[in-house]
Amino acid sequence: MSDDSRTVPQEQLPSDDLHPPPMPVINMGHLNLDPATRARVVEDITKACRDLGYFQIINHGISQSVMDGAVEAASDFFKLPSETKEEFASDDLRRPVRYDTSSKDGISMSRAYLKHYAHPLGEWMQYWPENPPIYRECMGNFAIEVRRVALQLMEAILEGLGLGKDYQHEKFEQGLQLMSVNCYPKESEGDTAIGLAPHSDYGFLTILFTSCRGLEVVDRNSNSWKVVQPLPHALHVHVGDHMEVLSNGKIKTVVHRAVLNPEEARISMASINGFAMHEKVSCARELVNEQNPEKYNASSFNDFLDYLTSNLENKHRNFLESLRMQGA
Ligand code: OGA
Ligand code: NI
Repeated sequence: MSDDSRTVPQEQLPSDDLHPPPMPVINMGHLNLDPATRARVVEDITKACRDLGYFQIINHGISQSVMDGAVEAASDFFKLPSETKEEFASDDLRRPVRYDTSSKDGISMSRAYLKHYAHPLGEWMQYWPENPPIYRECMGNFAIEVRRVALQLMEAILEGLGLGKDYQHEKFEQGLQLMSVNCYPKESEGDTAIGLAPHSDYGFLTILFTSCRGLEVVDRNSNSWKVVQPLPHALHVHVGDHMEVLSNGKIKTVVHRAVLNPEEARISMASINGFAMHEKVSCARELVNEQNPEKYNASSFNDFLDYLTSNLENKHRNFLESLRMQGA
């Protein structure tokens, strides 16, 4: 199955730890209040997507116990003996569950990860690890909740783009959800500090839980790496390649990476949300006109996996660029 991301060589960019990135914080509860309040939050979300491509969400309705349960399930999985985890190891990107400890990019060498589909849960859960025994239930609860949040956010963004919140509703409802569960060691001397190489995510929206600092994003304005400081009980959201395609470039994908934390080992859980495997995403007709001609060819998650499989060793692979139309 299921690599969610494309690598982008950006190591040469400077790190700017001194100036924290602008970080919009969206109160999700306000989306369900009166129409005027909702309209303001929709505007805030759309602005964050347009200007930055990321934001954090609070009051998202996912309980602390569901988040704690998923983190515990993830950390217990990574504590298992290698042989048990290796049962899920495979070079076949189409496997429903895949475990690995390094990447073909030769950069992300210290990360261990487990990737699996999560929607529809009834279809995929049977392939998930049975060990630790809490894994299926705890990760399943988190996956359901985080997908609910992703769909709410997607509706708000579609509304903000002027497409209406029910735009292609069925395709989003039936869309895939891919969980990328990552474990990074504490930074130690001799390690490369990069846990996960620069990339952007496949899909429309990624919602990321991170147990401590380690995520960095490219800040478009200063063209430098910025450390994301997670707020308590918040989730980080960033837009992916297919959002850029759907919005015909009005909203841009975000290049990000993970660095090792010098104080502690780190768990992160990313939920990547897209259309179903064979469903093509194309630029919304409503956003194409003479001033804004169509910029990207249509593609599906299946096309993405084909692209990755045939460019596995290519460090400069860039799925989104491969979709860009000539002259656009
Ligand atoms: C990912 C990702 C970032 C992190 O899994 O695609 O970007 O902080 N993770 O682990
Ligand atoms: Ni990512």
